[in-house]
Amino acid sequence: MRLTVRHHDPYPLTYALARGGGMADGDMARMAAGAALRAAGPAVAPGAASLSHRDGRAAAALAPIGVRIGIDLERARAVPREHERMFATSAERRTWPRWRDASGLWALKEAAWKAFGCPDDLPFTALELEIGRGGTVSAVRVDGRAHAARSLLRRPWPGWVLALVWAEEAP
Ligand SMILES: CC(C)(COP(=O)(O)OP(=O)(O)OC[C@H]1O[C@@H](n2cnc3c(N)ncnc32)[C@H](O)[C@@H]1OP(=O)(O)O)[C@@H](O)C(=O)NCCC(=O)NCCS
Repeated sequence: MRLTVRHHDPYPLTYALARGGGMADGDMARMAAGAALRAAGPAVAPGAASLSHRDGRAAAALAPIGVRIGIDLERARAVPREHERMFATSAERRTWPRWRDASGLWALKEAAWKAFGCPDDLPFTALELEIGRGGTVSAVRVDGRAHAARSLLRRPWPGWVLALVWAEEAP
């Protein structure tokens, strides 16, 4: 299995990517979480972890105490633009840049879903991303309450998108 660890500043976020090795995807995700934990080192006490895995690839992210985090790994261009209305609110569709792949919006929304630990039966409209310039998340609205948030959208391998969404927990 090939593991790659990345750090993101100024927040000490650590995430790891895994591929290959013939292991079950879920096990790969847990190995990636272990690698991120070792790489983060003792200076960063991890508060939250999030996992994502599919089709022989996996990713895991760690955030420090007091920060919620969600990660999602998806195939690029897997979501046709015309399917956006099945998972995105009208405000999200209006603000998501036309030039960006709709799979990125899906991945960001899934990552936010995990960061806020939303239950599967919550209607998709109950979670709404506030999207700024270039497709960056500035806040996540859950049941009408806005939480300041940040995001990263990456292309970890050709044909894949990786989304991270994180937010400081309310004091
Ligand atoms: C929860 C959900 C986001 C998981 O995503 P997925 O693409 O199916 O799978 P991923 O591999 O990316 O993530 C799976 C991991 O997420 C984590 N997870 C599962 N449910 C979760 C939840 N409610 N909150 C936070 N993390 C969760 C687990 O670690 C899981 O790994 P495991 O199965 O090995 O234990 C998915 O079940 C879902 O989409 N639920 C409905 C939400 C919805 O309507 N989304 C539409 C877009 S808004």
